[in-house]
Amino acid sequence: PDSLVNLVRGHIRDIPDFPSPGILFRDITPLLADGPALQALVDGLAEVYRGRIDAVAGIESRGFILAAPIAATLGIGMITIRKAGRLPGPVIGVDYSLEYGQARIELHPETVVTDSRVLVVDDVLATGGTAAAAASLIEEAGGEVVALGMLLELGFLQGRAALTGRQVDSVLVY
Ligand code: PRP
Ligand code: MG
Repeated sequence: PDSLVNLVRGHIRDIPDFPSPGILFRDITPLLADGPALQALVDGLAEVYRGRIDAVAGIESRGFILAAPIAATLGIGMITIRKAGRLPGPVIGVDYSLEYGQARIELHPETVVTDSRVLVVDDVLATGGTAAAAASLIEEAGGEVVALGMLLELGFLQGRAALTGRQVDSVLVY
């Protein structure tokens, strides 16, 4: 909804030259630190998906911040997608490319119910590599990815091109 867009826009802090010169970092910490704003955001996102999903998958680490409260608001489970080597016991994982270098994310496949409808949540869609990897992991574990729910989308990085055929919902696009 439009009100969510304005709420988010009003609480993002722009940090020039972070983490490196020429990069304009969109900082969500003021949004998270504002109680009423955080509550409105979580409630608003939860309502968008109420009745349409069975679980929310969060991507470590900033994706966790929103995935857990959205899931709890809806009374459904949260699936934990973590960076390589953090989860104990049997995992499935996927390697993917970042702008510079390689990354790997993993999950416990038994935390995904077969044929369950899953919303994948993260804070930022940049090149789309992380979101694409997360979606493929959920599917490998037997879930159905209903949508990728992103707080911010850096449109100029063309992340949607890595997510062709998938539903991508971003609250705010830069
Ligand atoms: C950032 C961001 C997304 C990802 C987006 O995470 O939180 O998860 O990058 O990038 P992409 O679309 O190009 O894949 P980061 O790896 O910086 O780690 P963090 O969430 O632990 O801060
Ligand atoms: Mg992240």
